[in-house]
Amino acid sequence: MSVEPTPITPELSAYIADHAGGRDAALLAVERETAALGELVAMQTGPDQAALLELLVRLTGARDAIEVGTFTGYGAIRIARGLAPGGRLLCCELDPRWADVARRNLDAAGVGERAEIRVGPALETLRGLAVEPAFDFAYLDADKSGYPDYYEELVARLRPGGLLAIDNVLMGGRVVDPADDGTRAVASLNDRALEDGRVDTVVVGMGDGLLLARRR
Ligand SMILES: C[S@@+](CC[C@H](N)C(=O)[O-])C[C@H]1O[C@@H](n2cnc3c(N)ncnc32)[C@H](O)[C@@H]1O
Repeated sequence: MSVEPTPITPELSAYIADHAGGRDAALLAVERETAALGELVAMQTGPDQAALLELLVRLTGARDAIEVGTFTGYGAIRIARGLAPGGRLLCCELDPRWADVARRNLDAAGVGERAEIRVGPALETLRGLAVEPAFDFAYLDADKSGYPDYYEELVARLRPGGLLAIDNVLMGGRVVDPADDGTRAVASLNDRALEDGRVDTVVVGMGDGLLLARRR
């Protein structure tokens, strides 16, 4: 049986975030620090989605993970926490200011030794990595116009059974009628992933939309 999705009011959204497990003092401190940045807080991965990322990392038994777009490190902390013993997370971040903040927050959350942050354009970082299946988990959450290129570089480097999670695939609802470059790029990526024989995909209607692609 299918039902109409429950409309997510601001109250329900807050309720969902409040029921995300694992928001310990370190994560709450990052939430507060990021909220103090004003409108930039919109860039942070939501608490419920970040909790889901950690759960997915655990469920896949991932050891090697990569994040494209790290900001203040909120999602990175949760990904790093989900990794199997000995696991490693490579964070790609363009802005050295955010890289410094993320480094401090990862350290404060007790997962600093699991994470490396590479500062610079993520596409250069990705293309500098060997083209071989090296990652069990990837999270894409950076500049939207780059999504199609990031997607190709990431899928090529996912191990069979590895999972790619892509944020903002609904673009605030604009994806159904794209009128700007970023939204067109995301819409073309959503179509590409659906037709891509290398992966199994689903769009999860959480937050601004999370596309999951599992490498066959
Ligand atoms: C939406 S935020 C990431 C949020 C983060 N994943 C989290 O969990 O809170 C996007 C980040 O991507 C970074 N970014 C933008 N363009 C980039 C690029 N070309 N290469 C790497 N990072 C980039 C921005 O500086 C910003 O920190």
